[in-house]
Amino acid sequence: MWGGRFAEGPASIMREINASIPFDKALWRQDIAASKAHVAMLGAQGIVAAGDAAAIAAGLDRVAAEYQANGVPEDWDLEDIHMTTESRLAELVGPVAGRLHTARSRNDQVATDFRLWVRDAIDHVDGALAALQVALVTRAGEHADAIMPGFTHLQTAQPVTLGHHLMAYYEMLRRDRSRFADARARLNECPLGSAALAGTGFPIDRNATAAALGFARPTANSLDAVSDRDFALDYLQAAAQCALHLSRLAEELVLWASQPFGFVTLPDSLSTGSSIMPQKKNPDAAELVRGHSGRIVGCLTALMVTMKGLPLAYSKDMQDDKPPVFEAASLLGLSLAAMTGMIAGAAFRTERMRAAAELGYATATDLADWLVRQADVPFREAHHITGAAVKLAESRGAALDALSLGDLQAIDARIDARVFSALSVDASVAARASHGGTAPAEVSKRVAEARTALGLE
Ligand code: ARG
Repeated sequence: MWGGRFAEGPASIMREINASIPFDKALWRQDIAASKAHVAMLGAQGIVAAGDAAAIAAGLDRVAAEYQANGVPEDWDLEDIHMTTESRLAELVGPVAGRLHTARSRNDQVATDFRLWVRDAIDHVDGALAALQVALVTRAGEHADAIMPGFTHLQTAQPVTLGHHLMAYYEMLRRDRSRFADARARLNECPLGSAALAGTGFPIDRNATAAALGFARPTANSLDAVSDRDFALDYLQAAAQCALHLSRLAEELVLWASQPFGFVTLPDSLSTGSSIMPQKKNPDAAELVRGHSGRIVGCLTALMVTMKGLPLAYSKDMQDDKPPVFEAASLLGLSLAAMTGMIAGAAFRTERMRAAAELGYATATDLADWLVRQADVPFREAHHITGAAVKLAESRGAALDALSLGDLQAIDARIDARVFSALSVDASVAARASHGGTAPAEVSKRVAEARTALGLE
């Protein structure tokens, strides 16, 4: 009664669940490059006749040209990019195509292709990170002495400069680039020649294929080479950390663009309106950078859980390694481009920032420090005296430096008129000239160093 359907059903779902071509076609350039390196080596080693190797290499070029012109065809029966390419090669050059797969397996092939792809992705993300760093140091240089409130607990803490704040993100991205560079150095070993899992009996030259593909050396253990994906996880971990940094900056832009803060106006080209509220200008790009970070962390989690507990060597679970890496790379690329546009195009409302810093008793620490330095008051006592001054100013709705000398001396007689020079926000930031501090002169030094590091000077 249902026999025909039963026989057909499993076959059809098997084709569907097995097919990776819908996503691994993204590896076509790497697959062609690795096959060309492999066949050149087979020819040089005399494993395949030189004429056959040349015919296969020319055929691979034709396949690549077709993919470039028309895209990669998706035939589930051919499963993946490796079989798709080999099948088209056979159509183009005939049975000699069958010699290409000598001394290799799809297991070392996919491990090689995927490493090449991740290596390219790292090179790409490094360029995008550098572009965002350039935007940050450019804006930081313009605003090295622009006063804004510095926050802890999102409460006004001490005045800082906008340049100092932006340079904090430059530092985070500098470490992100270094994490990606570390990942690149570790992944740069070539699995090709590990074959299915145990190596091969053919007299292959693994140094030759490794060098042809720009790898530093061949991998040292065939089981490890076909079965680990830590290079992809290294990439995703660096991507997730970077996305978390971008998410914090995005969150600040969302806050700063709100009316109560009013610290920044984001470019119209990277904002959207509301279909119902005509006055709205929404920081959607920043919100999506913040949102995408969650998806990128999800990609990392997905691959970690996929790899957990797999016995050596290759298991088909590992075919699922690619979608999270492709997705994370695409989301991170979008996030970096959007963030670079927002930072480069932001109009910082520095007068509002300064006013907020002046209102928030941001220089209370300076009053306490002044009591310690000029009146030899122990810091804890100075803290208490300053608290009383803030309380008085707050009860009048006034700034700290709006209190009179009489007001201050009524709180503590050791205060004299010199205190006022310490209570301005400008004096406060200028005083913080410790290495890495917010003093404008320090910020300008850090900006100059960063510009040199980025090759801008
Ligand atoms: N499409 C497969 C993958 O991405 C290629 C490796 C298949 N190897 C195998 N023994 N079935 O993992």
